[in-house]
Amino acid sequence: MSTAKNSVKRVTTSILQDMKDNGQKISMLTAYDYSMARILDDAGIEVVLVGDSASNVMAGHETTLPITLDQMIYHAASVIRGVSRAFVVVDLPFGSYQGNSREALQSAIRIMKESGAHGVKLEGGEEVKESISRILSAGIPVMGHLGLTPQSIYKFGTYVVRAKEVEEAAKLKSDAKLLDELGCFGIVLEKIPASLGKEVTDSLSIPTIGIGAGPHTSGQVLVTHDLLGITKDFHPRFLRRYLNLYDDIKGAVGQYIKDVKSSDFPNEKEQY
Ligand code: KIV
Repeated sequence: MSTAKNSVKRVTTSILQDMKDNGQKISMLTAYDYSMARILDDAGIEVVLVGDSASNVMAGHETTLPITLDQMIYHAASVIRGVSRAFVVVDLPFGSYQGNSREALQSAIRIMKESGAHGVKLEGGEEVKESISRILSAGIPVMGHLGLTPQSIYKFGTYVVRAKEVEEAAKLKSDAKLLDELGCFGIVLEKIPASLGKEVTDSLSIPTIGIGAGPHTSGQVLVTHDLLGITKDFHPRFLRRYLNLYDDIKGAVGQYIKDVKSSDFPNEKEQY
């Protein structure tokens, strides 16, 4: 039986590759739930990232470290139900892939089987190459993530711009080449100098998706709650806020409270 969902042309890794090859920019945003995913997909986003930023944005943790594989699968399955066109990539959470490639493969398989996602993302280069190879060998598309990698926040000690020094930039460039050679379908570059974002993008065959990596990457990603102004206390230079929903929602809720207390809600038209 063919449903309306099946008739939509799905974004694939080869479409994303074609976009890079043809100089068309790729748009990517985060979602953690059905309703938001549906809006992003309807708006025409190419890639939806079920980011482990859910740990901050959804659960209120200070870092991305506490979120579990089960919780990521719950978010991913909800997102998948809202999407008919976009490619959905899911973050492998901290502790589910580092150090043990067999466990990495099992984590990736659980995400794919239990959520219906289309690919996984993980942080790091050389250190996680065995995990990447093993996941790829199972036919699961893998996206890399270099630069500021929030799962290593306690190693960095701060969220400042990465790879400003020659040595760190050289490691990032060689990691990016490695991910390309291993067969990743793309790489997120987070919070690095724009010149490095350009150099890496120009040197790779696969697309790069930047967040605070300048205008020359193959595409851009933001955390949707930041773009919409739902999060309030996060003001990095790279962030463009398109709405101020925190205040809009607060205003609407304040008005609802007033209407309830004054018995203005519900009125005659709002009852049976
Ligand atoms: O978890 C996330 O939202 C991310 C983006 C910031 C790229 O990894």
